[in-house]
Amino acid sequence: MRSFRMILCAALFFAAASCKPVVPASSDPLLQNPGGTLELQFNLTETGAPQYALLRDGADVILPSALGFDLMDGTSLKDGFVIEGIEKSTFDEVWHPVWGEEDSIRNHYNEALVTLKDKGDRVMQIRFRLYDDGLGFRYEFPMENALTYFNIKEELTEFAMTGNHTAWWVPGDYDTQEFSPTECRLSEIRGRSEGARRGGGTPQKGFSPTGVQTALQLKTAEGLYLNIHEAAVLNYPTANLNLDDRKMVFQIHLTPDAQGVKGRLQAPCKTPWRTVMVCGSATEVLASRLILNLNEPCALEDVSWIHPVKYMGVWWEMITGKTQWSYSWDLPSVQLGQTDYRKLTPHGKHGANNENVRRYIDFAAEHHFDALLIEGWNEGWEDWYGNQKDFVFDFITPYPDFDLPALNAYAHSKGIRLIMHHESSSSCSNYERWMEQAYTLMNKYGYDAVKSGYVGAIIPYGEYHYSQPIINHYHYAITEAAKHHIMVNAHEAVRPTGLCRTWPNMIGNESAMGTEFRGGIRPGHTTILPFTRLQGGPMDYTPGIFETDMSVTAPGQEGRMFHTICNQLGLYVTFYSPLQMAADLPENYARFPDAFQFIEDVAVDWDKSVYLLAEPGKLIVTARHPKLSTLNASAESLASLPDGRKNVISGAARFVYALPKDAQSLKGAQARDVWYVGGVGGPGEQTASFRLDFLQSGLQYEATIYADAPEADCETAPQAYSITRQVVDSSTEISLRIARGGGFAISLREIK
Ligand code: NOJ
Ligand code: CA
Repeated sequence: MRSFRMILCAALFFAAASCKPVVPASSDPLLQNPGGTLELQFNLTETGAPQYALLRDGADVILPSALGFDLMDGTSLKDGFVIEGIEKSTFDEVWHPVWGEEDSIRNHYNEALVTLKDKGDRVMQIRFRLYDDGLGFRYEFPMENALTYFNIKEELTEFAMTGNHTAWWVPGDYDTQEFSPTECRLSEIRGRSEGARRGGGTPQKGFSPTGVQTALQLKTAEGLYLNIHEAAVLNYPTANLNLDDRKMVFQIHLTPDAQGVKGRLQAPCKTPWRTVMVCGSATEVLASRLILNLNEPCALEDVSWIHPVKYMGVWWEMITGKTQWSYSWDLPSVQLGQTDYRKLTPHGKHGANNENVRRYIDFAAEHHFDALLIEGWNEGWEDWYGNQKDFVFDFITPYPDFDLPALNAYAHSKGIRLIMHHESSSSCSNYERWMEQAYTLMNKYGYDAVKSGYVGAIIPYGEYHYSQPIINHYHYAITEAAKHHIMVNAHEAVRPTGLCRTWPNMIGNESAMGTEFRGGIRPGHTTILPFTRLQGGPMDYTPGIFETDMSVTAPGQEGRMFHTICNQLGLYVTFYSPLQMAADLPENYARFPDAFQFIEDVAVDWDKSVYLLAEPGKLIVTARHPKLSTLNASAESLASLPDGRKNVISGAARFVYALPKDAQSLKGAQARDVWYVGGVGGPGEQTASFRLDFLQSGLQYEATIYADAPEADCETAPQAYSITRQVVDSSTEISLRIARGGGFAISLREIK
C-alpha cells in the first residue's frame, strides 16, 4: 500500500499546484466510512490515470484498480487527467420503503466528488460513497464539458482482488441470468465456465470463459464477504465482470448494442453505481441495503395503489405440460389479427379456460389469497416462440374460451384480483406498440398487476436483453405502468439493481433460475440467490412446489425436483418478495392441507427482519415480523385511477391485501405479536440451532414448527414432514434437523 500512498501524495500535490480549487497534498485516505473501519484511497498515477483502492481495518480489500473509459472515436478517458477539485460531504437519513424487509432504512455515508480534467478539457467526475457496509462509486459527466455526445467502447473500471477468493457465480452473458450458480475459487472459473452454462436459459450470449455476472458473492481466506454489483442501471448497458485470472483482476464488461456500442451518452449524465459490499459475516450481507440506498428516492407521489400480493396461478400446469398456453393445433403459424379462432378446433388442453379459471378462483378465495395469475389467455400462443416473430401478440384479444369481463367480475366478487400476463416473446418493439391499449384494458377490468415476459431473442434484431436500448424498454414499461397504477413483475428482464426504491410498482422480477427449471435446480441453489440475485431486488421465484414428481402433477410427463416440502415453506421467509406465489396446483395443496396452512398464514411484507444463520451454498435462517400498516391498502384508492377515471370493479372494498388468515388477531387492541422464521438448507444434511432472542422478552408465544421428518430427503422422501407445537419465549433455543435439500418454517404467535 505504501507506494500507492506516495503516488497519491504526488498526484494531489500536482493538482494543488496546477488547478483550482486547491486540493491539499496529504497521505490521508480520500474517505473513511462513518464507522471508521473502511478506507478509500484515490490517486492519479504518474500518467494521470485515476485509481482507487479499498481497505478494511488497515488491510487491503480491493488493491489499486483502474477507472475510466475508452470511447468509440478513439478518445481515451483513462489517463492524462489532473484533479480539478474534490468536494466532500456526509449524509445521514432514514427512509421508509413502500414495501420491504423492514419499515425504515438508514442511508448513512461519507461522500467525495472528484473532478478530473484532461488536456482536451474533457471533464469526468467520480462520485464515491463510503458506507459502513461498502463502497459505491459512479462516473458523472457535467454539462460544461468538451464531451457532449459520446459513445463508449469499453468501461475500464477494475476490481483487483487480494487473493484467490471463493466465488459464487453464474457465467457472464448478454442475455440471461437463468443459470445454476457455481461455487469455486477464482482460478477455477475458466475450467468450470462451459459446464456452468449447461441447462441454463436461452438465448445465451457469453463473451469470455472468465466472464461472470453480478451480484457476485466472494469470500476471502480471512473470512471476509465481498459482493460486487451495480445500482441504478438506467439508460446504460448492464455490466458483467471479466476476470484476468493471472492477475486476479475483474474488469467491467458492458453489454454492446446491435452496433457494438457499449453506451451512448449525452452530458450531463451519470453511469450506474459500481458497488463493493464488505461484510464480516454472511448475515451482514443479507442485512445490507447498500444497493437500495444508492438508488434515488421514490419517484411516485401517490403510492396508495401499490400493495403486497400473495397469489396463485393457472401456470404450473402449463410449465409441467399438464395443459397448454395455446388453444388449437390447427395452424402451422398464426397471423396476428387475421386468425379467426372461433373457426379453429380447440385441442382440448387449453389451461386458461373459463371453467378451470373459476376452479382456481374458488380455491384462491377459500385460502385467502389476493390474486390469481392466468397465462395463455390471449391469442397467439400457437406460434409465440422460436421464430423471432415481431407481431406476436396484441395483449388485448382473449381466446374464445376465456371470458375476460365475466372472469374478472367473478374473481372480484370473491375478493380476488386477476393478474394480467403479457409475454412479449422479447419483441420489445411489438410490446411498445400495444402497451397503452394493453394497460388501458387492464384498467377497464380492474387488473392492477401484470406479469411480463421476455422469452427468446430480442427484437429490435441484434439487441440483447442487457443492452442499453432494452434497459430503456424495461424502464419505459415500468413508468408507463405507473401512470396506469399498474404493478409489474417482469420475467427474463435484466436482473434488478435496486430501482424498486424509485419505482415501487416494480414488485417483482424473475431474472434468475426459478422453479420453472424444475430438476435443473439443485439443493443449495436457494441458499445462494439471496446473496446474488436478490441483492438488487425481490425475485418472483415461484416457490411452494409440494409435488416434486412431475409424473404425478402431469401424467405422462417425466422428471423430478430436488427439495422437501419444508424447504419450500422456508422460502416464503428466506426470499423476500412483496409478491409471493403459491405455485403448485390446488389439487397438490389439497393433499397436504396442514403444510399448506403455513403458506396461507405467512405474511409477505415486513417491518423487521433478522438474519439468524447464513452461509452461501449451505444454509439461511431468517426471522421476520409482519408489517401491519401496509396490509390494509384503502379499497377506495385501489379502485380509482389517475385523471379521475374509475375502473369497473364492483365490491372493491373486499380487497384486503396480503393479510394473513388470522389477520383480525393481528390488529387492534387485541393485537397479538407474530413472527415467522424460515430456513433453507443445501446439499448436505445438517442441524440448524438458534435462539429466539428476537422475540419480545417477557412474552410467551406458541410456536408451530414445520420441519423435515427424520426420514425426509429431497430425493427419497421429499414429502416427509412433521408439525409440532410448543410454548417458547426469547430465551428458547431451537435445534432442527434439515434434510438434504430441506428446510423448515415456524409461525410464532403471542399467547395472551
Ligand atoms: C417464462 C417465464 O419465466 C414463465 O413464468 C412463463 O410462464 C413463460 N415464460 C411463458 O410466458
Ligand atoms: Ca424464466
